Amino acid sequence: MDEAVDVEALVAPVHTPQVSSNHTKIQSLVSPSTLRRKSADIRLVGCHSEVYEPCDDSFALVDALLADRVHLEEVQPSLCLELGCGSGYVITSLALMLGEGTGIQYLATDINSAAIEVTKKTLEAHGVHAEVILTDLVSGLDKRLAGTVDVLVVNPPYVPTSEEEVGGDGIAAAWAGGEHGRTVIDRILAIVDNLLSSKGWFYLVTLTANKPSEICLIMKQKGFASRIIVQRSTEEESLHVLKFWRDPLEITTDIGTSQPHLSSTWRFSRLAFWKNS
Ligand SMILES: C[S@@+](CC[C@H](N)C(=O)[O-])C[C@H]1O[C@@H](n2cnc3c(N)ncnc32)[C@H](O)[C@@H]1O
Repeated sequence: MDEAVDVEALVAPVHTPQVSSNHTKIQSLVSPSTLRRKSADIRLVGCHSEVYEPCDDSFALVDALLADRVHLEEVQPSLCLELGCGSGYVITSLALMLGEGTGIQYLATDINSAAIEVTKKTLEAHGVHAEVILTDLVSGLDKRLAGTVDVLVVNPPYVPTSEEEVGGDGIAAAWAGGEHGRTVIDRILAIVDNLLSSKGWFYLVTLTANKPSEICLIMKQKGFASRIIVQRSTEEESLHVLKFWRDPLEITTDIGTSQPHLSSTWRFSRLAFWKNS
């Protein structure tokens, strides 16, 4: 490693999930204080053997949104979309964070029908609302959503696996990511430009194995700037929540080269540890 990570890029954790061993009396936990929460209460999150339980990656994504909350409020989003909502922990947290009073709409999709049902229960248990749709990413919604999504959040299936494991509709769909864990991620990168509004922000969870610097370069070539909002590391892996937004300065003609042009918003030193790891 020849360049240090720029620690300014890393935002300290702001969220500690509250875990309770008592999952039974869910209704009695819905109180005014619960409804004032800025993230979902793990005790109220639905569960199912075929649905991904909120884990470190889910918490990191919600931490990133909480860290960015003031900016998110300033942007005044009209439509927030989560792809791959699983238990509903993230979309519920976003709805609690930004509220519904200002007419913000929330939409979530998943390819797993059990996840759709669990997400609906999680939203209901927190007293918030989102449209929840069973589909492959945004299949069938492309035209309706084109250019309208102000906040896009994704904790994708990112574990490197064989390609045969990708594309199911059960619990394997939560983690099976194909080569470099990029199969579903790359499909998402291909549709972001069409989905996001001009002021839209895109938050994506990645592992080092997913080659996040390459992901940033792909997005840069589409005219998106990027930044790390949260990083969590273990001895084996680093997990990052990346944020992307449109920036005309990012559009470059050097497609196919290995190094992006530097720009006012590109902080390549922050990605040096990925290149060298
Ligand atoms: C890692 S889990 C994340 C779940 C939840 N967002 C969270 O953070 O706890 C990934 C989710 O993406 C869903 N998924 C995988 N491929 C999908 C696809 N092509 N379209 C929609 N959802 C998909 C899985 O079913 C799973 O619920």
